[in-house]
Amino acid sequence: MIVLGIESSCDETAVAVVKNGNELLSNVIFSSMDLHKIYGGIVPEIAARSHIESIIPVLERALWQAFPNQKSKVKKATTTKFRHKTFDPWDLIDAIAVTYGPGLGGSLLVGVMTARTLAITKNKPLYAINHVEGHVYASFLTKTTLKEYKLPKKYPEFPMVSLIVSGGHSQLVLFKNHFKYKLLGQTRDDALGEAFDKVAKIIGLPYPGGPSISKFAELGDADKYQFPKAKLDQKFEFSFSGIKTAVLRVAQQEVGGDFTLPSFKIAKRLSEKQKVDIAASFQKMAIETVVDKTVLAYSEFHPKSVVIAGGVASNQELRHQLSDRLPISIQYIDPKLCTDNGAMIATLGCYKAMNNQPTSNPLTLQIETNLSM
Ligand code: KG4
Ligand code: ZN
Repeated sequence: MIVLGIESSCDETAVAVVKNGNELLSNVIFSSMDLHKIYGGIVPEIAARSHIESIIPVLERALWQAFPNQKSKVKKATTTKFRHKTFDPWDLIDAIAVTYGPGLGGSLLVGVMTARTLAITKNKPLYAINHVEGHVYASFLTKTTLKEYKLPKKYPEFPMVSLIVSGGHSQLVLFKNHFKYKLLGQTRDDALGEAFDKVAKIIGLPYPGGPSISKFAELGDADKYQFPKAKLDQKFEFSFSGIKTAVLRVAQQEVGGDFTLPSFKIAKRLSEKQKVDIAASFQKMAIETVVDKTVLAYSEFHPKSVVIAGGVASNQELRHQLSDRLPISIQYIDPKLCTDNGAMIATLGCYKAMNNQPTSNPLTLQIETNLSM
């Protein structure tokens, strides 16, 4: 079973080809991040336009990367009289999978309309994928000939607890099996990655904030500031707006105690030492919050595996804290497969196809910007 996956829910235009739900044949990602950097966050219209421009080149590269040996045959064939025998990569694709939500409307539309068109013109079954569920499936990839990826040797076993933490989502989910899962809890306000992005802005670090905060945090004292952990009555829920405000108050305090000082005026007045200490103290406490809940879920449900997914899953502090506190070992995925990619969508598409899950009608599939798990 070979599935082509298309992902375009935010600022990455991504297409990948995956075989049998565990073998990565190709993974091509074009990010419009650089176009958004000067605005300090994603501008939806710019993201949508970039998807329109890049979806076809990304798609073509992903198809050819998946079948490199066939490419030379095409070259040969086009130089001989047997032109009609040229190889078409679509002959080897069994199905198409596409993210239909949640995400930015204009961005999702580009991927979904491309997938619908391809499903009709190439006559392939179409699988609609929930982006957040898709993130988890990056953990099922264990084989590839692509040299730039380091994959775990075995895929996770069920029951499985998954912590999905990215710029748009923070969810803790118990998977009993493929497609049989229970949402244990999610964030009430900001996502964890969003909190990293906002704190980075306060201390003057570039977007996306996660990688910049973790780099700065390496140089800081994580015990310098005591930021609070949200106490919620729902034990598996998260909240990150409180810690974000606490960072703002500490920063205002450090530059003179004027609590009316707007956040954009603070960074210039903070010393490098204050910045690295804020980054380290924030990171330690924000990560501890999600690790506490993951450990709690582990002790309550005794899963055979724990996986982390989403952009924040590449955070080293998260990996260290989890490994220290969980009695089982975790197969961490390549950071390139933590942030948005087509491979995770194609992988979940494979499992849907291999388990006879319902397909979508390519004439009518709609995007769902607020799709939940
Ligand atoms: O999964 P993703 O690419 O997009 C969404 O689906 O949202 O995640 C992007 C998020 C951003 O908020 C970024 O700051 C965060 O993941 N991120 C990190 C790290 N790398 C990316 N957060 C903390 N530490 C990192 N190393
Ligand atoms: Zn994502």
